[in-house]
Amino acid sequence: MTTGFDVINPATEEIVETVRLTSAEETDAAIERAHAAWPAWRALAPADRARLLRRFASAVDADIENLAQLEVRNAGHTIGNARWEAGNVRDVIQYYSAAPERLFGRQIPVPGGVNMTFAEPLGVVGVIVPWNFPMPIAGWGFAPALAAGNTVVLKPAELTPLTAIRIGELARDAGIPEDVFQILPGKGSVVGQRFVEHPLVRKIVFTGSTEVGKQIMAGCARQVKRVTLELGGKNANIVFADADLEKAAATAPYGVFDNAGQDCCARSRILVQRSAYDRFMELLEPAVQGVVVGDPSSDATEMGPLISAAHRSSVASYVPSDAPVAFRGSAPSGPGFWFPPTVLAPVSPSDRAVTEEVFGPVVAVLPFDDEEEALRLANDTEYGLSGSIWTRDVGRALRVSRGVEAGNLSVNSHSSVRYWTPFGGFKQSGLGRELGPDAVAAFTETKNVFIAND
Ligand code: TAP
Repeated sequence: MTTGFDVINPATEEIVETVRLTSAEETDAAIERAHAAWPAWRALAPADRARLLRRFASAVDADIENLAQLEVRNAGHTIGNARWEAGNVRDVIQYYSAAPERLFGRQIPVPGGVNMTFAEPLGVVGVIVPWNFPMPIAGWGFAPALAAGNTVVLKPAELTPLTAIRIGELARDAGIPEDVFQILPGKGSVVGQRFVEHPLVRKIVFTGSTEVGKQIMAGCARQVKRVTLELGGKNANIVFADADLEKAAATAPYGVFDNAGQDCCARSRILVQRSAYDRFMELLEPAVQGVVVGDPSSDATEMGPLISAAHRSSVASYVPSDAPVAFRGSAPSGPGFWFPPTVLAPVSPSDRAVTEEVFGPVVAVLPFDDEEEALRLANDTEYGLSGSIWTRDVGRALRVSRGVEAGNLSVNSHSSVRYWTPFGGFKQSGLGRELGPDAVAAFTETKNVFIAND
């Protein structure tokens, strides 16, 4: 049965559009079309596949403002962030458009003949995208997959399908054949599930919660299906007393409240060396109160609403009436799923807000005494995605970077994602890496061929 889904603007609670949901039968038919389109796509001369991807990047570039405005309406992202996100899709397609002409194999010395390796595409790749960053996360999956010669079926989150649908149209406008890259809006339990179950889907790229990620991995195991998982995070922002405290405090809110905290890389635990704790909190308070929360379409806005009423209830459950709130920022009243930036301190290390991924604008601040304790606290989680280290001591920066069990660390900044460099999680934050020079390898199999001399 096919039904429609009302896409809601989270800043106004108005219906933006009703999107038709793909059924299980339609998903199967799309997968079969993607499989049928694969031989021609993989056989395309590398330069031609590269040219089509560059045209696709240009089409996205010409549509950046439209894509950004769509994301403001669909996901409540601030317009500044949404423009960056659309630009990231363009850049990632452009970056991987260089890959078809550089899919090198190796010639390995062996006795009795010549040995060479080929990087062969996998077939149909299923990309499952969450609602928090609908555009970039889609691009990190589909761009290297297409570049490596695979065809792609992509399921956006039910809540946020609009930019993915538009990106699919732009791909067709650029000349990418319709069945090579298909967008299938629908439910995870229907479309996503068929990606996992259908034997013609050879790989799943999943970004989302650790809980669903485990189910996907278990489902893929039945067919030994390849899988890349980008899951949750509970990241630490570690501030040493020798750091530039003014800068550390001024930037800490943006390290956690960006995208209203709905970010797997949100630094939702701030660990501060005890000797600098009071001064840091003094500096943090005005910084949190200065975060501009409101209409996401305004250029001045720094934080928009949460994605849905249900998600707001989930975030609110981490701040019960007796929660140790140190201070809060502001949020509009009236329609929209608003939640103010909230700082919890002093807070017990076993508090849910310290141990679980809140995925909202809530941060817990904890003191530590020395490097050893900072590392123990930072690593006291099953997650391991990102984190920040603030110190002026380069040796300490290196020691602590090596000691934190996480895939993406930044020193004296809060940057996790650069499309040139690998991104992914340790422990239960994921499996595999996206982005960077090696991501295409995750969409190919190595084939070894030996040719005898005689
Ligand atoms: P999930 O509920 O896990 O949903 C993610 C995607 O999986 C959605 O498209 C969802 O479809 C689909 N899905 C749900 N159940 C499924 C099933 N049984 N089979 C196949 N697909 C299924 O996560 P979310 O709440 O949207 O996203 C938030 C989570 O994503 C957070 O934990 C966050 O940390 C994580 N995240 C991680 C990263 C990286 S890079 N590590 C980046 C962003 C977000 P529906 O739309 O129908 O629900």
